[in-house]
Amino acid sequence: MPQYDPRAFFTFLKQGVTKWDQTASLVPSQRFLVNAMVDGARPETAGAILELGPGVGVMTKPLLRRMRPDARLFTIEIDEPIHEALVRNVTDPRLTAMLGSAADCEKLLAEHHFDGKVDAVVSSLGMSLIPAPIREQILDSALRVLAPHGVYVQFGYFHTKHLAYTKDGGWSGFDYKAMLERKFSRVTRSPVPLNVPPAWCYVARP
Ligand SMILES: C[S@@+](CC[C@H](N)C(=O)[O-])C[C@H]1O[C@@H](n2cnc3c(N)ncnc32)[C@H](O)[C@@H]1O
Repeated sequence: MPQYDPRAFFTFLKQGVTKWDQTASLVPSQRFLVNAMVDGARPETAGAILELGPGVGVMTKPLLRRMRPDARLFTIEIDEPIHEALVRNVTDPRLTAMLGSAADCEKLLAEHHFDGKVDAVVSSLGMSLIPAPIREQILDSALRVLAPHGVYVQFGYFHTKHLAYTKDGGWSGFDYKAMLERKFSRVTRSPVPLNVPPAWCYVARP
């Protein structure tokens, strides 16, 4: 059974069909990928986590379940109907759910009176579909809000290595590992073949 209500699932599906290049998936991530991403963020030890592209909350809920009672979780979702579904679906006083672009994460965190560093950034953004300048802005600002000991967790679908459509590059491959290695000093990855679509889960350290 999904951990979110059917209405949220259909909101995600509808936005996936109508705004494919933004939603980057037709269905929310499933159990094995959710577990890999949440494990990568080490939620038990985190004081604050920033989640980029939370969708309807399939990772948000398990992150909160494993976070400390005094910890904070910030989410940034660009799509209004999806953001609203998340807010309806996940109610927790530790959660600050923000509507906006991940590229503006520093500004959004400051607007919500958070001026510290986060221990983990959990990104489900479909990076291959995001124009290169915005992608750079997202990664650079995520790095600035991440603590030096922190982790950046990202997933990328297997097929994008060979087949991805980008607005700036047309049809080509997109290499998540290379993208992360340009910005982070250490990058490890684990395969999650049982997700639809199958994915890699990357954990990167500054
Ligand atoms: C592949 S979905 C992942 C959703 C969810 N985390 C999951 O795993 O099912 C990517 C999500 O990122 C959101 N998104 C896309 N670009 C964004 C941006 N620039 N800033 C914030 N969210 C964005 C989409 O609307 C979508 O909800």
